[in-house]
Amino acid sequence: MTFVSFHKLLLGSATALLCASATAVLAQEHSYAPSDIENGRGIYQANCLGCHGNNGDSVEGANLASGRFRRASSDEDLMALIRIGIPETLMIPRPQFAYGDLRALVAFLRSMQTGGALTAQDTQEVVVGDASRGEELFFGAADCDSCHGVNGGGSRLHPDLAGIGSTRSAALLQQSILDPKAVVREGQRFYQVTTTGGTVVAGKVMNRDTHSVQLMNADEQLVSFRESEITTQGFIATPMPAYLDVLSADNVADLVAYMLSLTTPE
Ligand code: HEC
Ligand code: HEC
Repeated sequence: MTFVSFHKLLLGSATALLCASATAVLAQEHSYAPSDIENGRGIYQANCLGCHGNNGDSVEGANLASGRFRRASSDEDLMALIRIGIPETLMIPRPQFAYGDLRALVAFLRSMQTGGALTAQDTQEVVVGDASRGEELFFGAADCDSCHGVNGGGSRLHPDLAGIGSTRSAALLQQSILDPKAVVREGQRFYQVTTTGGTVVAGKVMNRDTHSVQLMNADEQLVSFRESEITTQGFIATPMPAYLDVLSADNVADLVAYMLSLTTPE
């Protein structure tokens, strides 16, 4: 039943588009199973919403709901783009997605074009609280400064947050706190090496070539491994804890306010 009406909806919109623009019709390749669209909606909320927004139009020049993409046209292109990312931008690679996840995401993105965007109740408004209370939390009860410096302090292994308010939206900062793994930037991923002797070292990659890997370890020291002494290696999950069930909504709102206040002076 639902499937039939959904199908009709797609046909209707495809006809309308045919009159408007031939390229847009090319983009709408198939009809998509409602279960894929729903699944994709959930994946989008957890992984993409913070940057691309409710309506898919929060990133300048990349309106995901327009049905036209600068860097992709077919569904296969889109899946590859989401998996591989766009070098040197916030659009990082997402190798964790299985084929089914990618297919669901694409189904959801295509559905945005025909009015399937997230509605207000799908997502909570980002609440921005009080910056001075946020600062107290950051250096006090929430203990963020055990890892992060703000213009110095913290550990060199973790990003210094000075100026963060100039380059990140409130939604993105909130997502960084609630679910950090969803928004790890390329240069901030952690790497782990296990040696033939059984030593396990995790840290930031400082240099990597065909013969060796250099990491900055937890003591902020540079350690070097020859490929011949490594048994396994690869990127690992971010060490930043997810605060979704740890901090109250008020605390998160205050921390977001504090981070928004950390702007770069002109
Ligand atoms: C941390 C922010 C961020 C997150 C999270 C993010 N993106 Fe992006 N995305 C960007 C930026 C920035 C660009 C534009 C890059 C450029 O072209 O300079 C982009 C570009 C894209 C494009 C290309 C648009 C075009 O016109 O070619 C697609 C498609 C896309 N993102 C889909 C996704 C999907 C799907 C997710 C979730 C799995 C996601 N993005 C998560 C920041 C993000
Ligand atoms: C155990 C160390 C650790 C703790 C504790 C920690 N973080 Fe992080 N944080 C990281 C690491 C590592 C990254 C970079 C990788 C990532 O994005 O998860 C990061 C990333 C971030 C980012 C995104 C930076 C960017 O460039 O977009 C923000 C914002 C942030 N943290 C805020 C906080 C706040 C607020 C707290 C306290 C509630 C906190 N962090 C606690 C390690 C930590």
